[in-house]
Amino acid sequence: LKGITIAIDGPAAAGKSTIAKRIAKKLGYTYIDTGAMYRALTHKAIVQGINMDSDNELSDLLRQTEIVLLPVNDTQAILIDGEDCTEEIRSQSVTAGVSKVAAHGTVRKLMVEKQRDLAAGMGVVMDGRDIGTEVLPDAEVKIFMTASVDERAERRFIENTKRGIHTPLEELKQAIENRDKADSEREISPLKRAEDAILVDTTSMSIEEVVDEIVEIAEK
Ligand code: C5P
Repeated sequence: LKGITIAIDGPAAAGKSTIAKRIAKKLGYTYIDTGAMYRALTHKAIVQGINMDSDNELSDLLRQTEIVLLPVNDTQAILIDGEDCTEEIRSQSVTAGVSKVAAHGTVRKLMVEKQRDLAAGMGVVMDGRDIGTEVLPDAEVKIFMTASVDERAERRFIENTKRGIHTPLEELKQAIENRDKADSEREISPLKRAEDAILVDTTSMSIEEVVDEIVEIAEK
């Protein structure tokens, strides 16, 4: 299976990146985590004290920022201006601020350009919120991945525990709901299922089952 594009969208913590990484590995494709790009900009904006309400300031900052997604074994490192910020972009402050940053028009325009450049001419699995609707509307395979909010909060809780982070479950659930609301209600490229995207509800599916289902769809 060579050179097709697989777009995976869906709400926060639905397992998109876990699944996308595995599919990319299975097919020998490149995985592109677009959420990490918005997180990278948010992290740098926080460090530099940039006004998160200003599309101008944020987009100027983005123009001066080099964001690199670097494949490392089975995962991916995120370099901001050459510095490894893989852990930092998952912090609570970044997670709390990223939806605001991602709602700005110029920021999104620049990000979408970068994402299309990254995807050009190769087999790609890209995950995010607007991949099937905006970034890669011609993707051969479009998936809209969901799971119940309780399941998503629980998965994030387990993942956090492994990383030594101990945010209460209720708090995680609230944060996920807040982010989904902000991402769904923003004016530009809100989170929504593309008309031609296949809905995959992973609530009671294993990682392997989801991977196999999507690979099967891709191979058709
Ligand atoms: O995928 P992840 O949860 O890391 O994304 C972080 C945030 O980045 C999302 O909550 C959303 O605000 C923004 N995002 C976006 N469009 C994308 C990917 C992420 O607006 N394609």
